[in-house]
Amino acid sequence: MKLRIDILRQKSPESKPYRQIIELNCDNDETTISSLLNTINSSNLKDIDSNDVGEIKWDCNCLQKKCGACAMVINGRPRLACDTKLSEFKNGKITLEPLKKFPTVCDLVVDRTPMFENLKNLNVWLEDNSELKPKKTELAYEASRCIQCGCCLEVCPNFSVDAGFFGASATVPVSRIISELNKTKGYDVLKNYRKNIYNGCGKSLSCMNICPVGIDIQNLMVNSNAVSVWKRKN
Ligand code: SF4
Ligand code: SF4
Ligand code: FES
Repeated sequence: MKLRIDILRQKSPESKPYRQIIELNCDNDETTISSLLNTINSSNLKDIDSNDVGEIKWDCNCLQKKCGACAMVINGRPRLACDTKLSEFKNGKITLEPLKKFPTVCDLVVDRTPMFENLKNLNVWLEDNSELKPKKTELAYEASRCIQCGCCLEVCPNFSVDAGFFGASATVPVSRIISELNKTKGYDVLKNYRKNIYNGCGKSLSCMNICPVGIDIQNLMVNSNAVSVWKRKN
């Protein structure tokens, strides 16, 4: 399969982004984008203008869809590089870009610190006297599958790093806590949920079908809204 890979690159946070196009052949269309990037980085390739390609920087930890680090925009859609196979791109044309909602560090690497800071601001943890409520175990399990990749933030029209609205990547972990609230912890979590999530969410549902691990974000939101806003008993 002949590939034409168009990559949005950037040498440093301050430098100007530029596009680089690489053409190469790949025999195995089961190859993932992450393996493709490794192949490019271990070859001495030139781009279509005969410039050196050099090392394309990108993030990864697990290569198993478990850490979220390899999230990037692939052909216009936020996805995990380690979970995207070449077989999806029949015409061989692939564009790779960094997530745009976070500051770019270099090439496909972004600084996702704001997403983690938002979680800290929400106090997303359980007190040691919390009790797991058996009827909510399903919701808690669903929420715990979030890998903090940030793909849901990329498509969210209301999220930006300084907007005060934390988006679905915060909604999901908070919904785990809300499903298991105890009395002492409850007040702050519900107040923060209303302030930083419910009030800023436009309910556009753009985040519904984007999650690479298939979390049912809408179901979690419905439960958290019911408890925190409509005061339904948990
Ligand atoms: S429903 Fe819309 S505004 Fe709310 S988190 Fe999802 S994409 Fe963002
Ligand atoms: S909800 Fe899904 S898309 Fe959003 S951060 Fe978690 S794993 Fe990623
Ligand atoms: S490298 Fe961990 S999810 Fe892709």
